Formats: sequence, structure tokens, C-alpha cells
Amino acid sequence: MNRIFSGIQPTGNLHLGNYLGAIKNWVELQHQFESIYCVVDLHAITVPQDPVLLRTSTIEVTASLLAAGIDPKQAIIFNQSRVPQHAELAWIFNCVARLGWLNRMTQFKEKAGKNRENASVGLFAYPALMAADILAYKATHVPVGEDQKQHLELTRDIAGAFNAMVDEEFFPLPEPQILGQATRVMSLRDGSSKMSKSDQSDYSRINLNDDADTISQKIRKAKTDPDPLPETMEGLNDRPEARNLVTIYAALADCSSQEVLTEFAGKGFGVFKPALVDVAVEKLAPVTSAMRQYMDDQSYVLSVLDEGAERAHAIARPIMQDIRERLGFLGHSLG
Ligand code: AMP
Ligand code: TRP
Repeated sequence: MNRIFSGIQPTGNLHLGNYLGAIKNWVELQHQFESIYCVVDLHAITVPQDPVLLRTSTIEVTASLLAAGIDPKQAIIFNQSRVPQHAELAWIFNCVARLGWLNRMTQFKEKAGKNRENASVGLFAYPALMAADILAYKATHVPVGEDQKQHLELTRDIAGAFNAMVDEEFFPLPEPQILGQATRVMSLRDGSSKMSKSDQSDYSRINLNDDADTISQKIRKAKTDPDPLPETMEGLNDRPEARNLVTIYAALADCSSQEVLTEFAGKGFGVFKPALVDVAVEKLAPVTSAMRQYMDDQSYVLSVLDEGAERAHAIARPIMQDIRERLGFLGHSLG
């Protein structure tokens, strides 16, 4: 049986990278598989969070998922901290994963920065919690952007090590699904760094709640070069900013990058950028306006999270009980 699990952090605005790299795929997959989508508030607190903002962000991210087209009758949507099995299994995985495995994680190195001694233990153990998210449901497929590939490999290592420990094929080895044209959307200001919530400059990203004027301004100001667009993608090899905009266009318009180049070859950014603004506004405006409506009806959003948490808990609880028995823990968990 196939089961999808994926997660997203409630830390500020969602942006075009989240949308094209993850959420757009989640919307498509919900019709093909049993799907569980989680707003990962336990992951958010691996770095300091303001409780008021964390609550607001959790509601906003849920509203964005609904606005993007995730159907809560079909998929399960919930926030991670409500289902205690995530934290419980994460602890067990902290005891399965080796320090050497976690030491290789590039995202920790990026997020901890120079002052590594001062990073939280939770930030270091973040990937073990992510493995717990996925495996608490015995999920088989995990749709994510490219930046999560290494964490997925670690999840497979943890699942394999646990299986060896209990001498049983207990967990499936989950497959990453890195789908679509834009698995790594880059900053609009710098084609060598990824579009991210934490970038200082708001001009580096398109947020899902930006209005049409803001989208237009950000695209017009996006860094490019003076050359016209080439006929093939090879011609963009040394032009990361141009390549990024072409990829974004293709992903939004649901066509291939080659088709974009066939249409725009020989034209400069004076022509291409306004066309990109049109397609971005056309595709994102309905999401933005639906998101506003959901934010005006927060009690509905909260009810979606309530129901999702119950459905998620009903799946994770018996799996966790099986794990407890394999390990020799006495009795049932009260969670
Ligand atoms: P996060 O915002 O870090 O919780 O990421 C949520 C999802 O969005 C994950 O599947 C990420 O891989 C994906 N994602 C985040 N940033 C980007 C980006 N710049 N390009 C493509 N996917 C991204
Ligand atoms: N670490 C992921 C990110 O930052 C979010 C996440 C947490 C996740 N748990 C997950 C993604 C489980 C997929 C599956 O993008």
C-alpha cells in the first residue's frame, strides 16, 4: 500500500519555492494516494520562535495549503505537536541514528552557521524528528523539494537500521518524490542561493500572499543579464538567474523549459519579464484570494486541523504501540 507524508514549517510566509517545489505536487498527489500533510511546529522550535507568531503562522500555512487546493476531505492536514507519537518516535530514532550520520547533514551546517556550539540540540537532531514524522505512519512516498533529499536518505538509513535491530521488515524505506520542473527555485536576487523564507531581502522571493503589483515589481527587479534568451537550455548553463526565471515560467505554465525557450529565443528580458509577470499573476492570484478568505474564517481552518489531528493520531497510535512492543517497553503509551 502506498501512503504519502510531507511536512512544511510554520515559520513565516510561504513562497514560490514552497509552492512549486512541494505544495503544487501535494495537490496533485492527494488524488492518487492516501496523503498526510503536516505543519511541523516541533521542527519550527529548533530555532527560537515567538509563540504568538508561531500560532499565526500555523494558521496561515494551513490556510495556504487549503488555498492551493488541498482538500481536507481527501488528505489529512494537521499540526505535528498535536500527535504525540512524533516526539516519542523521534526519541527512539535519536537512539538509532549515529552521530556520524547526523554530522554529515548539510542543512544543519547551513542553519547553525559559524556559531555551531550555540545551536540547539534539537536543530542537530532535526532529521531524526523528520524520519519519525514519516515512519510513524509507515509512509512510502515523500514529495519534497531537492533540499530535503539528504534528509530522506537519512530517513531510509534509520528505517533500515531499525529493521535490522528488530530483525523484521518493519518500516518501508520511503521514496523521495522530487517532482516537477522547479525542484529548486532560486532567489530572484542571486541565482546561486535558494529562494528561502529566511532571506533578508523580500525582493529575493515571491510570497504566496503578495498582490499582483508586488509580484510584478519583484519580477521586474529580478537580477538578469543583458543577453537575449538562447534556443536551448545548454545556452543557460552559465546564466543561473536567467535559467531560474525560465524554470519558474515553465513550472507555472505547466510546460517544459524547452517550450519556453522555443517561444522566447532571441528575445530579451524586456519581453520575457512582462510575460512571466502575467503567468505568475494568473496562477497565483486565485491562491492569494482563497488564502485571504480562509484567513477571514479562521474557525474553519482550526476545525480542519482538529479533524486532521484525530485522523493522523488514529493511524500513528497503533504503529507506535507495535514499535513499543518490539523494543520491550512495558504497557501502552498514554498518548
Ligand atoms: P520549508 O519551508 O523549509 O518547510 O520547506 C517546505 C517544502 O518546500 C519542502 O519540501 C522543501 O523542499 C520545499 N522548498 C523550500 N524551499 C524551496 C525552493 N527554493 N525550491 C524548491 N522547493 C523548496
Ligand atoms: N524538513 C522539511 C523542510 O524543512 C519539513 C519536514 C518536516 C518534512 N518533516 C517532514 C518534509 C517529513 C517531508 C517529510 O522542508
